[in-house]
Amino acid sequence: MAEESHMLPDRTLPAVAEQIQDRRDFLRKAAQMLGVAVASGTAITVLSACETDIVKSQGGEQVFNITTVPVLTLIGGAALQVFDNFNGGREVIIIRTSTTAFAVYTAVCTHQQCLVNNRLQNGNIYCACHASAFSVTDGRPLSGPATASLRKYETRFDSATNQLTIIF
Ligand code: FES
Repeated sequence: MAEESHMLPDRTLPAVAEQIQDRRDFLRKAAQMLGVAVASGTAITVLSACETDIVKSQGGEQVFNITTVPVLTLIGGAALQVFDNFNGGREVIIIRTSTTAFAVYTAVCTHQQCLVNNRLQNGNIYCACHASAFSVTDGRPLSGPATASLRKYETRFDSATNQLTIIF
């Protein structure tokens, strides 16, 4: 029985070499184009970071007993907290807005990423770095150099158990 050969016949080698070269040219050109695209994307990301918050939510819920932070038992009380990797591993500001409601925002200022204060100032969230103020109602900038809102996280509060659920 004749042994089957896995070698290509000699006459096809130049054609295969040509195909490989074409493929390499294609890949090189694609990589060059992709490099431009990646560079453009990076520039867009950097520009966007100047205008919006840089912390990205990764989804999930965090349950938090507010009695562990006494200031949150008072209406108008505010505190900074970190919850593992939620909010990009950065602080959030939790504000008690009524006996049954809380507002939670990223504490990373949208101007140049300083942390906002852990206390309200004139009823607003305040960043001492360059004096930006943000609304407690929706996180929009009210004054100062910041032009983008603080990212807001939805919450549920169970007043029977004092459990605040933050939806990241
Ligand atoms: S970093 Fe907050 S106002 Fe500039």
